[in-house]
Amino acid sequence: MKQISAYANANIALVKYWGKNDSGLNIPAVSSLSMTLADHGTQVFIAPSATSQHELLMDTKALAKSAHDRLAAYLEAVRARYSFGHYFRIDSKSSIPFASGLASSASFFAALACALNEMLALKLSSQELSCLARMGSGSAARSIFGGFVGLHGGHDLRDDDAFAFPLVVHPSLKLHLVVAVVDDTPKPISSRDAMKMSMASPLYQGFVASHREDFLGAQQALGDGAFARLGEIMEHSTLKMFATMWSTRPAIMYWRPQSLALIEAIYDLRRAHGPIAYFTMDAGPNVKVLCEEDALPLVLRTIAERSVTKNIFCVAPGGAVHVVR
Ligand code: PMV
Repeated sequence: MKQISAYANANIALVKYWGKNDSGLNIPAVSSLSMTLADHGTQVFIAPSATSQHELLMDTKALAKSAHDRLAAYLEAVRARYSFGHYFRIDSKSSIPFASGLASSASFFAALACALNEMLALKLSSQELSCLARMGSGSAARSIFGGFVGLHGGHDLRDDDAFAFPLVVHPSLKLHLVVAVVDDTPKPISSRDAMKMSMASPLYQGFVASHREDFLGAQQALGDGAFARLGEIMEHSTLKMFATMWSTRPAIMYWRPQSLALIEAIYDLRRAHGPIAYFTMDAGPNVKVLCEEDALPLVLRTIAERSVTKNIFCVAPGGAVHVVR
């Protein structure tokens, strides 16, 4: 049996998925929309195991128990679906800055799904590949595609309908994300657990009920090249997601004072220069700012001036998952 390697970029959601339906198949409760990030991703290496169990590594070192158990469970779920007899040695290497809030699990599971497809000669379509990645991590479904990507979610959705798909973007939109890292210590609670808890919030139903409008509105704005409309929807979706976390018991608080300082900086920037930059955040304290190419120098300067970041970097839209030959 051969050795296979595959690479996938990470992605950041502009319209957030938060919560899953009760199928146990990792199906997002709501649809989402993301940007795939250039040159920030994970390469997965897969080969037959020399033993009668999986050997699961990261950067050549054995995975910690929780990550090992999650990956082993994923491989068993894949085995149940595509019945194969092998055990694998799986290693990975990520180019994503540590604890930057660019979920490396999305790029990892997308690259792994691609490598398994090749290894087991499954001949899956991109749509099927996206479902296979989603079984590992919801947002991984989106990292199968490059550019801007939609992912179907819903409480009644069947497994093979919860796939990602590429979106049409107006050629005039030259979008970039600026990632502002304010805290790189481990997060207090995983997105998996936080999501589960948030679903008990009295605000969660409102998040779900109003989501479709955001999802469709953002797609329309991307197609129309309407940057400000897209940015407004992104901020609204982000804050609605956090509202469900803040209103659960106990409350989940990922934000740090530095996060709020950067959000204020973006508001100040818009007051002074118009609708040129919008923020989003995920299950962590770091802030990502969406802007067009010509606003990048000003956005970077504004963030740096607040002196609350440990690291700042810019990312352009990136390409799709692929086998590394
Ligand atoms: O991919 P997961 O299951 O770890 O969840 C990701 C959740 C958010 O990043 C907060 C939102 C999203 O749509 O990516």
